[in-house]
Amino acid sequence: MQVQIDQYTAEINAFSPANADELETFRIKFLGTKGIVKDLFEQFKTVGPEEKRTFGKVLNQFKQLAEAKYNDLKENFSADQSSQKSDLDMTLPGDNFQVGSRHPLSLVRNEIIDIFKRLGFNVAEGPEIEDDWHNFSALNFPEEHPARDMQDTFFIKKNTGKDDIALRTHTSSVQVRMMENGKPPFRAIMPGRVYRNEAISARAHCFFHQVEGLYIDENVSFADLKQTLYHFVQELYGEGTKVRFRPSYFPFTEPSAEMDVSCTICKGAGCNMCKYSGWVEILGCGMVDPNVLENCGIDSKKYTGFAFGMGMERIANLKYVIRDLRLFSENDERFLKQFQTEII
Ligand code: PHE
Repeated sequence: MQVQIDQYTAEINAFSPANADELETFRIKFLGTKGIVKDLFEQFKTVGPEEKRTFGKVLNQFKQLAEAKYNDLKENFSADQSSQKSDLDMTLPGDNFQVGSRHPLSLVRNEIIDIFKRLGFNVAEGPEIEDDWHNFSALNFPEEHPARDMQDTFFIKKNTGKDDIALRTHTSSVQVRMMENGKPPFRAIMPGRVYRNEAISARAHCFFHQVEGLYIDENVSFADLKQTLYHFVQELYGEGTKVRFRPSYFPFTEPSAEMDVSCTICKGAGCNMCKYSGWVEILGCGMVDPNVLENCGIDSKKYTGFAFGMGMERIANLKYVIRDLRLFSENDERFLKQFQTEII
């Protein structure tokens, strides 16, 4: 037994682990529940009383040696780790942190909202799933009227017409909700996503974004409409941008017009963005049809108003020269990164 203990003692004294795993192996070998110390104590039970006295002491010393060695080394290892932490070089460059950028449609939407806010317009929103009344009937689209086909609708439930449920085809539905739920005067814009059943290509998509506007009060005239939109365009595309109005047709406005601006790319000289005409169309507008006012519970003898609607993708196209509509919804980082970086 003495010889064995001497050998183990030499082994313990010489032990110098390279890592925490080796130390753990040492602990299991000597101090574990099936380890050497335990085993020697088992053997000790069988020796005679004479030997017990001498070996008892030797054995206890051996146990203490093994424990002390283990505890010392354990401290070294944990001390090592914490000293590694304090060795951190704070001057090293940090991890590469990706900063996001605003989507071009958000940039355009925020800019449009800013301009109209300065003119006293609020922002209103409404549901993307709409019933027939808010998307069509209240807006003076008669049932079975071909004007409903102008907007290729995605129907969710198609019944008799007035019970239909559909994805909204324009944000004019928000105008109806606003007029029904409030009292004039109204002055608001309605930004939002709209859906139309069109084949996806560079020039058309099955969903896009609109900003519509509504202004209802006593004595609102077509001159107010022209002046408001003229001011909007000067703010958006710069002083000196020309506008022109062409007669048009929408069921919910009378008279109706489409507004063109002098081409924002070539300033009217002619380029392929404006198909060499010098003009690009940006929105539809008109005086709110008295039928629409009455449908929404507004006295059309007392109040008049104008409305307009534009596609945000179109506005962004002209601002950033993005020729393929699909880019807006593909989330290609190479595209998105080209726009203003968010400062955080
Ligand atoms: N709602 C029309 C559209 O989606 C746009 C519009 C709005 C036209 C308001 C006139 C007045 O095409």
